[in-house]
Amino acid sequence: MDPRDGRGLDRREFVKSAVAIGGASALSACLDRLPGGGREIPAGGDPSALPARQHGWNEFLSTDDHGNDVMARHHVLAYLDYAGDGTPTDGERETVETALQSLERAYEYSNDGLLFTVGYSPSYFDRFDEELPESVDLPAPEPLSSFEDPEFDEQDVVVHLASDHAEVVLEAEEALLGNRDAANDREMDADLGGVFEKADRRTGFVGKGLPAENSDVDGIPDDADIDEDAPLYMGFKSGFTKNQATEDAVTIQSGPFEGATTQHVSKIRLRLDDWYGEQDQDDRVAEMFCPAHAENDVVEGTGENLGDGSAVSECPAHLDETAQEYGRVGHNQKTAMARDENDNPRILRRDFDSTDGGEAGLHFLAVQRTITDFVETREAMNGTDATENPAIRQRVNNGILEYTFVRRRGNFLLPPREHRALPTPRPA
Ligand code: HEM
Repeated sequence: MDPRDGRGLDRREFVKSAVAIGGASALSACLDRLPGGGREIPAGGDPSALPARQHGWNEFLSTDDHGNDVMARHHVLAYLDYAGDGTPTDGERETVETALQSLERAYEYSNDGLLFTVGYSPSYFDRFDEELPESVDLPAPEPLSSFEDPEFDEQDVVVHLASDHAEVVLEAEEALLGNRDAANDREMDADLGGVFEKADRRTGFVGKGLPAENSDVDGIPDDADIDEDAPLYMGFKSGFTKNQATEDAVTIQSGPFEGATTQHVSKIRLRLDDWYGEQDQDDRVAEMFCPAHAENDVVEGTGENLGDGSAVSECPAHLDETAQEYGRVGHNQKTAMARDENDNPRILRRDFDSTDGGEAGLHFLAVQRTITDFVETREAMNGTDATENPAIRQRVNNGILEYTFVRRRGNFLLPPREHRALPTPRPA
């Protein structure tokens, strides 16, 4: 497969779309196109040296000039179903753990190598007689607003693979599923092929330049002027340290899953015609952050000038006052209303954009101590209180709800590393 045939893609463009295409031929075409047939990816080490928390990624990510963690650029979500009948065996647990450790030995655990997590859904745990302990809040997914009708992800498992290099997430996925013998030139000691069946895959990217380069999809108008530096389609930098929960805060503190966290993943379709067509930069700042930020010129361009926080405390805390004064309310302003008693955000966002299905989208992946933390944060984003003002409707003048359409929702538990292979609801 020569990806240049008739498609006129340059190397960088091709490398990104290869992740969305997936599979062995996308990987080999991707490697062929790199100088020298591939780039040097640092090898991994002893898996026992890695942190107990699977979601402990921040210390392995790069940071920007302001100290914000910078998420890896390329992502795959591999959804899998347990292939066996009944409950998993110890032999299967060993196979899964060996396969996962093979990846940790193959690639450095970092954005330059590979970061990953393995999550288990409520449906996975349903096959056991025992219930999950009370210290784990993992309900089945539900719609989280009156104006959405999502489908639910009830696959047993989701593996989240992340790397700055497209070929790494593709190769790791292929090796894990048993379609390839080696990862980063190291032979796999086992794979997941006999234990799980592939149920779905989703892909995406986040980081400077990637949205502008991947803007030829439904949902992004042809004349959209996406900033070349924007890390996300909607044009702003996101994930400032002060607007994120810490890894400590999202970690389950007691019980058999001490060290775990919960993960919510929604698939959101973006329709940015009006975002880029009818709105100017000030309108976009008002709806993404808050109207006061637009009035006071707080956000320049993509928001790089914000440093390590979006200064959301300078947005009026009373939505009805903002609604009355400006006729609209901002996304960040609303979501910050769900903060905890110490004024800290309750969810740690690790979301990324997507071109899956040829549509602009966002896989909104977040980790939090309880799914309730996510649900209450999402309810704050609905801005229902603000709709008492006639200018604000459920989706209009109400943050970014006019442009985002939730298609799917799923909830998962990310057990601590020691219980990540086919856990029972009460691991010893
Ligand atoms: C296209 C989708 C979205 C985009 C582009 C987006 C973008 C942003 C931006 C630019 C901020 C400002 C500060 C920062 O990111 O650090 C923010 C804050 C935030 N967003 Fe979103 N967001 C999106 C969807 C969501 C969804 C679905 C949720 C779910 C509840 C959410 C929850 C939050 C939270 C909790 C904050 C921080 C609030 C605080 O400061 O306490 N966002 N978002």
